[in-house]
Amino acid sequence: HRPLADPEDEDHDELIATLPCKPPTPLMRRMRLYRGGWFPEKWLPAIMAFRRRFEARDGDVVVASLPKCGTTWLKALAFATAARGTYPPPPVAGGDDEGNRRHPLLRLNPHECVPFLESVYSTMEEESKLDATPSPRLLSTHLPYSVLPASITDSSRCKIIYVCRQPKDMLISFWHFINRDKSRDVSSSYVWESVRECTYFGSPIWDHILGYWNVSKVKPDNVLILKYEDMKRNPTENVEKIAEFIGQPFSNSEKEASIVDNIVELCSFEKMKALGASMAGSQKVISSEFPNDSFFRKGAIGDWVNHVTPEMAESLDKLLSEKFDGSGFTF
Ligand code: A3P
Repeated sequence: HRPLADPEDEDHDELIATLPCKPPTPLMRRMRLYRGGWFPEKWLPAIMAFRRRFEARDGDVVVASLPKCGTTWLKALAFATAARGTYPPPPVAGGDDEGNRRHPLLRLNPHECVPFLESVYSTMEEESKLDATPSPRLLSTHLPYSVLPASITDSSRCKIIYVCRQPKDMLISFWHFINRDKSRDVSSSYVWESVRECTYFGSPIWDHILGYWNVSKVKPDNVLILKYEDMKRNPTENVEKIAEFIGQPFSNSEKEASIVDNIVELCSFEKMKALGASMAGSQKVISSEFPNDSFFRKGAIGDWVNHVTPEMAESLDKLLSEKFDGSGFTF
């Protein structure tokens, strides 16, 4: 438990106990419904502290997503793009000299370069580090838009880059991710039903996506929606979109110097998987530890076909097409 930083923290436990509840399942610990989203109960004190205490600054950029939609990749791309002045991406065919080995992404997991805000607010130490971080800050969250603090949503200070992914692949990715823990053996059908049952983190997933999507329609300068599949098909175009959105478009001379290609290569799945595998240690999110290599599995589009029946796929597609009907959003 976090040390109490402010007397209002004491109210969290009381408030949490009053929230609608889902009992624990093999997939998730006990969940509670908070501001329209379902979360593991043990995350709520940090989520609430983030909501109450975070102060956005001009120039903050927040990477947002549901888990397993390409968060790690987007963090790497956004970091490499935003920090390219200080840390030029190593040239694709560059040698192994010291300059080319200096880039933070070659020694740090992208989650260390771009912290999860809900995790930051689980310890005082991390919160102080965040306060001491110079602007412009690159941050991230798995929370729905409805849970973000007013200092992000009511001002135009922050920019949000939201990445979404075809839910069938998101679920299979999540299934592999949780079953890395050999003490768990969660069946794929359990994970599949988590969308309908709203036991996926931050559920309902359609509200998570539409929350950001709807704001992007009215505040396109503040919310940019990216899709994992588009990023896979055309990473260069998406890196250029990110750069423009954060107000750091690539100059012609940068393009001629292949800076965009170098960023794409530095953050490519193959490169990042090899780096993740060679990194010892793990990433802590709230109170759970995730080994560095667990964020890089297959990096493919359409892997779901290898794991679920056409009937399961059809029934999920049907549910989601009903939920997204009329929104203008498509995968
Ligand atoms: P798979 O399990 O389908 O391979 P998140 O970062 O949101 O947890 O998402 C993890 C998913 O993104 C995993 O999908 C992972 O392999 C994939 N991924 C991680 N880094 C990637 C990269 N550089 N390029 C493409 N996909 C990547």
